[in-house]
Order: sequence, then C-alpha cells, then structure tokens
Amino acid sequence: MQKKYSYIASIYIHIPFCKKACHYCDYHFTTSSTSKRDIVNSICSEIELRSSEMSETVKSIYFGGGTPSILEKNDIESIIDSLRDNFNIDEVIEITLECNPDDVSLKKVNDWISINVNRISLGVQSFNDTELHIMNRSHDSKIALRSLDIISKSYQNYSVDLIYGMPNSSLETWKFNIETLLEYNIPHITTYALQVEDKTALKSMIKKKKIKNIDEKVQEEQYYYTNKFLKKLNYINYEFSSYSKPGFECKNNLAYWNRDKYLGFGPSAHSYINNFRKWNVSNNSKYLDGIKKNELSQFSEKLSQNDIANEMIMVGLRTKEGFDLNKIKFMVSEKNINFLNKQVEFKISNGILIKKNNKIHVAENYKFITDGVSSDLFLID
Ligand SMILES: C[S@@+](CC[C@H](N)C(=O)[O-])C[C@H]1O[C@@H](n2cnc3c(N)ncnc32)[C@H](O)[C@@H]1O
Ligand code: SF4
Repeated sequence: MQKKYSYIASIYIHIPFCKKACHYCDYHFTTSSTSKRDIVNSICSEIELRSSEMSETVKSIYFGGGTPSILEKNDIESIIDSLRDNFNIDEVIEITLECNPDDVSLKKVNDWISINVNRISLGVQSFNDTELHIMNRSHDSKIALRSLDIISKSYQNYSVDLIYGMPNSSLETWKFNIETLLEYNIPHITTYALQVEDKTALKSMIKKKKIKNIDEKVQEEQYYYTNKFLKKLNYINYEFSSYSKPGFECKNNLAYWNRDKYLGFGPSAHSYINNFRKWNVSNNSKYLDGIKKNELSQFSEKLSQNDIANEMIMVGLRTKEGFDLNKIKFMVSEKNINFLNKQVEFKISNGILIKKNNKIHVAENYKFITDGVSSDLFLID
C-alpha cells in the first residue's frame, strides 16, 4: 500500500567532484580531486554552522552531485554523523546516494549499506556505447549492466537515470535502452530529455557541426513511447520525468514539489526555508574560503506571492497532482486571478488542459510541452 507523506523535511548534500566532464552537463563539479577532503570537512562545518535552521524531524537525505559515489565510506559517514549531531535524523526514511556505474562494486555497495544508505540513484544514461562515448561518460554499456546487476541484487529501493533525445537517436535506439531495463524489476526510473545547455562541450560540438543537433520531434516520440510503455508496466508517472512502482517515489523529490522545507549543503546547493530560496556559491575555492572564516558564501531571495503561485502552477502541471486554482485565488491580485482563469479556460477549450477533481492537469496529448504550457500561465508582478 502506498504511504502518503504530508510533510517531508529534507536535506541535500552536493558533492562537486566527477571523474570526467560529461559533454552535456552544466551542474557544478570539478574533475580535480585535490580539495576532496577539504570540501567534505567544510560540508561538516557548514552543517554545524547552520544547525539552527531546521528543528523539524528530517525524513530524507539526498547525496547528489557531481558524483557522490566517488567518496570513500569514511567521507559519507562523517557527513551523516555531522547531520546526526546537528539535526533530528532519527526518523529518516531514505538516504539516497547518486552513483556512477563505474564506481559500483560489491565492496562499495556493502560499505554504503553498512552506513545506512538505503537508496541508490544510478546514472546509466544509455546502454548504447556510441551514445555513451558522445556523452563522454566514464563507463560503457558493459559496466552499466554490471553495476545494475550488483545494485539490483543488493538494494530494494533504487532508481536508474536514462537520457533520451540524443543526437542521431531514433525511436528504435531508444526502445533498446528502455527495454534493457525490463530485464530488471526496477522500482524507480527517471528519463531526462537531453538539454543542450550553454557553455557545455555538447553545445559547442553542435555549433561547430561536429555533431547533429537534437531533433525535438524524435524526443517527443521517445517521450510518449516511454510514457505509454512504462504505464503499461504499472509504473506511476508521478512527475514529468519520473516513474515509480507504488511506494517507491523519491522522497526528496516529493519534498521539493510539496514545497516542504529543505536545507542544501556544499557548493551550489539550494535550500528552501519559509518562502526564502537560498543557494551556496558554485565555486569550490570561494566556498572553502567562506567556511574557513565561519561564513556562508550564500545568496538568497524572498519569493513573492506571484513567484509561489507560479511554482505551484509549474510543479502542479509537471506532477500527477495538478494544481488547484482555488488555492491560488487567495494568494494573488484580482487582476492576476482573472488573467489565470482566462488562460486556463482558453486552454481547456483547446483541449490542452483538463479539469479533474477540481485540479488542473495537462491533457495526455500535450504532456511533452508541459513547461511551455505552464509558462503561458505565469503571473507577473
Ligand atoms: C547531475 S547528474 C548527477 C548524477 C551522476 N553524476 C550521474 O551523472 O549519473 C543527475 C542527472 O542529471 C541528468 N542530466 C544532467 N545534465 C543533463 C542534460 N543536459 N540533459 C538531460 N539530463 C541531464 C543525468 O541524467 C544525470 O543522471
Ligand atoms: S552528468 Fe554526472 S558524472 Fe557527468 S559531469 Fe554531470 S554530474 Fe558529473
């Protein structure tokens, strides 16, 4: 039976190290490991410095990156120990570790289990060696399969990430990727549409015509195929990119989408506390310098009522929850609620949105353009 969590205070830890720079990635990381120890120690210090920011019982801890699986057992353990010393983590349900296939071994998995890491998010991305090579991943398909063998035998609760819409990909190449997963009874799958981010190697390769641009039509076809295919296999498409077997939704994701309180530690990590978004500097040296002086190199922004309403629209449309017009009605100006009502009615009459149990959802045939649909509804100050 699926359990409903009404409130999930959560903690995110950003580990900014990777073995190789994947060509598409614009997350914050470095491929130099020289400051690894200093960063781990500084994350522990940051946890102590910010211990008064959350008195709630923490339900979910998520190690993301970068590549948390690069860390030694002692590093992860010392971060969890710091969390235990400074926050109430006794009732934590999930401790997730993002993990790259080339870091997976029986020894590492046993290490993670021994320190209570009870969920793995495995970044497979593709089972196709040509695609993995274009991505500049540090693993090949053989390593991906081996890691999946080990994880699926050791963990009940785990997730696999795949990327669709690669240059030169087709529905057939994607079917191979998604169908390979069927050999395992995977409780959670995340499928990301490849994004060509500024300042990435992928963007410059496309610009220099060394590689084909992505084809949105193919991406769309691959998206709808995945959606139908996984739903038939009883996966719940609980968010645009996320599919889970009942009860295996990622608790940290649920916390973000419910706009529950979360604290993020480490360079570039984001926090959300009482309508404030805060984010740490995306630079390891500046982060370390700040912590050395007992200071946080952090930025923050207070969300306006319109910002909160826009987040509710965006997240609501991306998740299976939809969004509630009645809730937004009491948050924003009359002018803005009139605008929103008009836009929603117009899109319902065009078959793009639907109303179900008083909540607004994107109609099945328009799901691929969900983010575009929500931006048409956004309110401005
Ligand atoms: C930032 S990574 C961290 C996890 C781990 N280092 C890995 O690569 O598997 C989290 C996920 O974001 C996704 N991702 C990162 N950049 C992306 C992009 N430009 N387009 C689509 N997905 C992306 C990848 O699928 C990846 O598994
Ligand atoms: S996708 Fe993962 S492994 Fe690759 S550079 Fe980004 S964070 Fe590092």
